[in-house]
Amino acid sequence: MRSSIFLNKAVNPFLRRHRENVNLNEVFVTGGAGYIGSHMVNQLVQAGYAVTVLDDLSGGFADAVRGAELVVGSIGDAALLDRLFTSHRFSAVVNFASFIQVGESVQQPCKYYANNVGNTVTLLDAMCRHKVLSYIFSSTAAIFGDPVYVPIDEAHPQAPINPYGRSKLMVEHILKDLDRAHRLRSVCLRYFNAAGANPHSQLGERHEPETHLIPLVLQVANGRREAVSVFGTDYDTPDGTCIRDYIHVEDLCAAHILALRHLLAGGDSRCYNLGNGAGFSVKQVIEIARQVTGRPIEARFEARRAGDPARLVANSSFIRDELGWTPRRAALETIVADAWQWELRYPWGRSD
Ligand code: UFG
Repeated sequence: MRSSIFLNKAVNPFLRRHRENVNLNEVFVTGGAGYIGSHMVNQLVQAGYAVTVLDDLSGGFADAVRGAELVVGSIGDAALLDRLFTSHRFSAVVNFASFIQVGESVQQPCKYYANNVGNTVTLLDAMCRHKVLSYIFSSTAAIFGDPVYVPIDEAHPQAPINPYGRSKLMVEHILKDLDRAHRLRSVCLRYFNAAGANPHSQLGERHEPETHLIPLVLQVANGRREAVSVFGTDYDTPDGTCIRDYIHVEDLCAAHILALRHLLAGGDSRCYNLGNGAGFSVKQVIEIARQVTGRPIEARFEARRAGDPARLVANSSFIRDELGWTPRRAALETIVADAWQWELRYPWGRSD
């Protein structure tokens, strides 16, 4: 299957024409000052790409953008996008500029639809008008809802149970229309639970406020919080707490580089599920964090959080087989250890 990339390259005259107008080395990363985006920019720069970041800094940090131009603004600003697409010769867009909190999306659905769908459509429209026709999209395991079976492969029914998941699935549908109408080729990467850090590059998870399990658990270990809440102990799982598939942010970004190369070589649109295929409950995560840090971590058992599916575990055979993706830091102990290094070195989220 991997050779299909090269076959496409040979038979796609449109791509050949299109390539004359772009610089294959120049990539536009939206939301590149955020957690996953900043790790991505770092990997792209290390791989030799020239990167321009657009980020409104609503959730990102300017000092997390390393080795790239940072433009502060919104992907919903069509005039700004026109200026950027005119002054650069981007070959591709990698979009991380979206809201990501499942619980918040249940409370404030319009916030999620306005940005994750509305503003993303503005970006996609600009791409089509400027003939930048390769797009990597941060999709999510949340498009599947409560799984009918695990591990979840690409054929699994899509029935999101929260506005966050629905907003991402809407964009996946829009991308199919844009492929047909404008030959915009995309790779949708459905992330399971991104975690970990690249403390050697002074990058790690920084959300304000932090809502994700692993950084919160590590803040307790580091004495920055008294206890971590465990949301729900009555799920249909062996210990009653939710099960997730944690994937190292560096492995996640490596998949984006492969996806980018696939598109730039003329590959067709794809959707891939991206996780390690191993599920860990909230209680197991806390226990592993106790072992990795050697510190006590107090857990408080609370009611369920709205919008949480009981179990999300990925089958990522498709991207492994087709793009040769191989996670290098898959063990949860490694993911937690890297996040712990970041927490110890930059406990206030500062990277300077
Ligand atoms: N959890 C707790 N206590 C906390 C925080 C989280 O018990 O203080 C639980 C949650 O209820 C959930 C699990 O830990 O069961 C993981 O929660 P996170 O908030 O860390 O992550 P989510 O699974 O809610 O969501 C993340 C991303 C989404 C993505 C999803 C895909 O934020 O963008 O993974 O699985 F869609």
